Amino acid sequence: MLNKTDVLNLLQTEDEVGLFKKADEIRHAYVGDEVHLRALIEFSNICRNNCLYCGIRKGNEKAIRYRMSEDELVQTAQKAADMGFKTIVMQSGEDMYFNMSRLCRIIERIKKFDVALTLSIGERSLEEYKAFREAGADRYLMRIETTDKKLYAKLHPQQSWDKRHECLLMIKELGYELGSGIMVGLPGQSMESIAGDLIYLKDIGIDMAGIGPFIPHGQTPLKDEKGGTLSLALRTMAVMRILMPDINIPATTAMESLHPRGRLMALKAGANVVMPNVTEGDYRKFYELYPGKPCTDEQPKQCQTCLGIKIQSIGRTIGTGYGGHNGKKPL
Ligand code: 5AD
Ligand code: FES
Repeated sequence: MLNKTDVLNLLQTEDEVGLFKKADEIRHAYVGDEVHLRALIEFSNICRNNCLYCGIRKGNEKAIRYRMSEDELVQTAQKAADMGFKTIVMQSGEDMYFNMSRLCRIIERIKKFDVALTLSIGERSLEEYKAFREAGADRYLMRIETTDKKLYAKLHPQQSWDKRHECLLMIKELGYELGSGIMVGLPGQSMESIAGDLIYLKDIGIDMAGIGPFIPHGQTPLKDEKGGTLSLALRTMAVMRILMPDINIPATTAMESLHPRGRLMALKAGANVVMPNVTEGDYRKFYELYPGKPCTDEQPKQCQTCLGIKIQSIGRTIGTGYGGHNGKKPL
């Protein structure tokens, strides 16, 4: 068992190539060569929160806001299912227009397409999490972002770390597959704190870990900060793979924003999941959490083809199943 000092030493290793190779070997041994694709639908960029780093924070008056209609969202999901995706991820800002009954109806409609369904819609009540699960949601994604409580409080003026932690425990308890994760390179974040984050994610028993570099957005209070490097993000992800050998780990889109081959580099350093964007038209431009997001001029089919070619070019195959943690089947 690795303790916090071991994790810190791994994160700071001088042999980055060796670290990535080890993570890649563990990935191969525990989860194999399949890369699981999750079709990501960004269905609303309206958000009640004001996270200092995020481009769709409520205080960003320059953001062009949109909200898909229920039918538009369900049709986007249907198209993704028809294209062969076995997991649909519904992601949005914390947009309370999508209340319990609306969301349950949407979940029930999308679940008819024989897909695993993941929600990524932020903090809700136990009653809501329960209802979404009963309606058919299989998985939930919500990053803890950082376990440094002081830093968390600075970055999230309206939110509480304890509340978010409680939400993650509730989600897990309800039988969702739980994805969480962090950003690295946040202003004031130390390497010790990142080591602590990884231990935390292991302790709460996540099924998936999303790790991305913080990228400063020009319309946010953090616009003049430095941001995280690709190297730090890849290292952190590789150490996560060593700590939790059999979980799902996505090659995150933010990594691709820093380097045109960022996601491929991640797939060779421990990652086994990619989340292609299947949002249509201009919406993907407007869902700008951070700048430099790839593929904002592409359409779903183009990303599917492009990623398929890229994944095969590094000797990997596209997963044909649902790709749940430990083969867990959807509802
Ligand atoms: N840079 C990188 N990642 C960001 N996220 C939000 N804003 C940024 C940013 N400026 C990440 C958060 C959130 C996820 C959906 O996107 O970690 O949980
Ligand atoms: Fe979108 Fe390559 S993944 S064009």
